[in-house]
Amino acid sequence: MPGAKTIRIAAAGDIHCSEAERARIERAFADLDQDVDLVLLAGDLTTHGEPEQAAVLAEAVQGIRPPVVAVLGNHDWHSNRQDEVARMLTEAGVTMLDRSWTDLDVRGTRVGVVGTKGFVGGFPDSQLPDFGEPELRRVYATTTEEVRALDRGLDAVKECPVRIVLLHYAPTQTTLEGEPKSIWTFLGTDRMAPPIEAHQPDLVLHGHGHAGTFAGSIGDIPVFNVAVPVIKRDFWIFELNGETAS
Ligand SMILES: [Fe+2]
Ligand SMILES: [Fe+2]
Repeated sequence: MPGAKTIRIAAAGDIHCSEAERARIERAFADLDQDVDLVLLAGDLTTHGEPEQAAVLAEAVQGIRPPVVAVLGNHDWHSNRQDEVARMLTEAGVTMLDRSWTDLDVRGTRVGVVGTKGFVGGFPDSQLPDFGEPELRRVYATTTEEVRALDRGLDAVKECPVRIVLLHYAPTQTTLEGEPKSIWTFLGTDRMAPPIEAHQPDLVLHGHGHAGTFAGSIGDIPVFNVAVPVIKRDFWIFELNGETAS
């Protein structure tokens, strides 16, 4: 019988690996459902961005069957060793995205994943302007680069039947409800939303807002905050329709 193939994606953000959390991390990856086709990690892979903490994740993912795609979060930059962290995880088989994209063959369907950390900037009532001191304008410019990279990546994967955006910072305030409004500017920005609205991906995932809300949206596009403190489990399983089997 012809029918749409179901693609099962395990997603989590803010897994915050460290030596103290090794047992939890190893168990989470070892317990991944046999039927999971793809694992997506939405940044804050470590507690403080130290290579020893990344090693916990590198060891946990080695040997698991589904491909793992990840972006870094702000915690992974904290020790200024983010390049080492990313290199270690790449060597362990993780596809690390940073203002970039990948496409994978998942059960016969091309799945495009556009990934970048995202950045701060705020929302309509708390927007950081492109004004004033150079330091502040550099923050604005960094977010601009993230927005442009997201647009380029979504354009690159436009032919993929399934397209996913993977971020760390929130691209909408709808998934930040629960966080104090006074810090929303530091939790993300809706400046990331226009490329998402323009390209209409199937799914947008992010983390970072530990006290936020799981399900939100940008227009009709579903956005999920998969931070572990929000999903209250190791991974959330998403099921998407792949290409129709013939
Ligand atoms: Fe986090
Ligand atoms: Fe974070």
